[in-house]
Amino acid sequence: MKTILQVNASILGNEGQSTRLANEFVGGFGYGDKVIVRDLAKDPVPHLDAERFGAFIAKPESRTLKQEALVAYSDGLINELKQADVIVLGLPMYNFGVPSMLKAYFDHVARAGVTFRYTDKGAVGLLTGKKAYVFAARGGIYQGTPADTQTQYVRDFLAFLGITNVEFIYAEGLAISDASREASILKARKSIERLVPAFA
Ligand SMILES: Cc1cc2nc3c(=O)[nH]c(=O)nc-3n(C[C@H](O)[C@H](O)[C@H](O)COP(=O)(O)O)c2cc1C
Repeated sequence: MKTILQVNASILGNEGQSTRLANEFVGGFGYGDKVIVRDLAKDPVPHLDAERFGAFIAKPESRTLKQEALVAYSDGLINELKQADVIVLGLPMYNFGVPSMLKAYFDHVARAGVTFRYTDKGAVGLLTGKKAYVFAARGGIYQGTPADTQTQYVRDFLAFLGITNVEFIYAEGLAISDASREASILKARKSIERLVPAFA
C-alpha cells in the first residue's frame, strides 16, 4: 500500500488541464492506496513573510502561541510530504513561471532542520526515498528551451528536499490551436498509460 500526495496548483481546480492529467494518473491506481489531495486553489497557502519565517526559525521552547500556530500549519503541509511515497504535482505555467500559490507552498515546506539540513558539504534533503511525477500544462511550447523556467526550478527545489526521482509529463501548446491542444493532451495521456503500470 502506497501513500500518494497530489498537489494541485491550477487556479481552475479540477477544470485545470494540469489537474485533469494528475487526476487521471492518480485515478489509474489507488486500489488500497491512500490519496491525499492538497488543492492550493481551494486552500491557498499564505505568502511567506517575516512573521512566518520568524516562527520557523524560532527555538521551539521560545515560540509564542502565534508562532506555534504558524509552525503547526507548516508542519501539517510537511507531514503530508513525509507520509507520501509518491508525489504528484499538477503544474500550470502562469506568466512564465510557476503559480504563485505553488511558490508559497514551497516556501512553507522548505524548513531547515525539518526537510533539509546544512552539513559541511552543503545542504542535504531529508525527504528521501520518494518518487515524484509532475504534470506540466502550458499554453505555449518551452520544453528544452531556456524559456522553460519551471522544469529545472522544480527539479532543483524537490532535490533540495531530497526528492531526486522526478518525472515530468508535459502538455504543451494548449493555446496554439485545437489540433495542437488535442495532440498534446493525447501524448500526455499516452505517457500516463505507460507510467501507470510502472507505478503500480
Ligand atoms: C494567468 C495565466 C497566465 C498564463 N501564462 C502563460 C505563460 O506564460 N506561458 C504559457 O505557455 N501559457 C500561459 N498560460 C496558459 C496556461 O499555461 C494553460 O492554460 C495551462 O493549461 C494552465 O494550466 P491549468 O489548465 O492546469 O491551469 C497562462 C494562463 C493563465 C490563466
